[in-house]
Amino acid sequence: MRDLGISEEEVMDGLSKMREKDLSYHRIFSSMCTPPHPIALLAHERFQETNLGDPGLFPGSAELELQAVRMMAELLGYPEAAGYLSTGGTESNIQAIRAARNAHSFRDGNIVVPKSAHFSFDKIGDLLSIEIRKADLDDDLKVDLASVESLIDEKTVSLVGIAGTTEFGQVDPIDRLAEIALDAGIHLHVDAAFGGFVLPFLEGDWRWDFTVEAVTSITIDPHKMGMATIPGGGLLFRRPEDLERLAAYAPYLTVARPKALTGTRSGAAAAAIWAVMNHLGREGFKEVVDRCMDLSRRMVDGARKIGVEPMMEPVMNVVTLRMDDPEGVRSDLLERRWRVSTTRSPKALRLILMPHSTVENVDLFLKDLEDIMKRRG
Ligand SMILES: Cc1ncc(COP(=O)(O)O)c(C=O)c1O
Repeated sequence: MRDLGISEEEVMDGLSKMREKDLSYHRIFSSMCTPPHPIALLAHERFQETNLGDPGLFPGSAELELQAVRMMAELLGYPEAAGYLSTGGTESNIQAIRAARNAHSFRDGNIVVPKSAHFSFDKIGDLLSIEIRKADLDDDLKVDLASVESLIDEKTVSLVGIAGTTEFGQVDPIDRLAEIALDAGIHLHVDAAFGGFVLPFLEGDWRWDFTVEAVTSITIDPHKMGMATIPGGGLLFRRPEDLERLAAYAPYLTVARPKALTGTRSGAAAAAIWAVMNHLGREGFKEVVDRCMDLSRRMVDGARKIGVEPMMEPVMNVVTLRMDDPEGVRSDLLERRWRVSTTRSPKALRLILMPHSTVENVDLFLKDLEDIMKRRG
């Protein structure tokens, strides 16, 4: 650190130079995040100094959090759900499994997750010292129920289902997992970090949220398709006692039994989430999701025209394309300044069509992809 500080102008100049190195989102098809909605930025700025880690000092911010949680609970089919705003999907998943583990007297338990689960579950195994058992997927890349059943034993504390897998955007059969969880008398956590702000706005007979009675907790991320500022996550529990299992004792704070994983927490995130949800309403979110789905179908149709087949019809705004060497194609695309990603298994090129994606960029991308595929023969 410097002995003598520099002027505001020099600081801002230094920041601008670094910001110029960052990519802008418009050629990015690999991210589940997107620029925040303008109203989220306004809200965030106004609440920057507030700290939900000591909510008695910021009762207005605390009320925004309560209301944001309530709105998400309604969206997920159970207005009475209890929860809090986390830093994102990873924290929410950690905390959901921690609550499931704390419901038991033993500590050496296990959980059963699909092989498609986000890597946050590997961190959970390490952090909580519980075993993460990975169930096979079926041909549609949904969790295989027989495999789940074969992995459960008396030390299993929770099943996990994914509503919107990170790699393929697939939705596990949550209602069938629920039957298994009920039978075993254990928690069922649904990771809807990505799907939480997509699935409620799609047509279709989805049974994946709190309307499925055995679902005990849900992760939902406003900083992904909720267009809030980062960090903005949500964790909801059906039963308040499960949230209570996360409480620590902090008598010097204005609320003596905080439940979040982090201590100091941004009230700005709560303001941003509250602002976007109130500003867009269900109708506004449906428009956003419809647009992303239209772009996903445009991507798939365009890919088919150049001889590239999707791994599956997109369930959500995640498109995966079948090809021999996705990693190689990814590098070729990178040379043309497109950011895409690939999946682990089965291997495919992965594209997320987010609110920042446009028709123009989908078409430009497809032209480049066509050219690359031709050159590769
Ligand atoms: C299904 C799922 N769960 C959890 C996460 C982790 O979320 P975060 O990066 O906000 O911690 C992601 C991130 O992409 C995800 O797709």
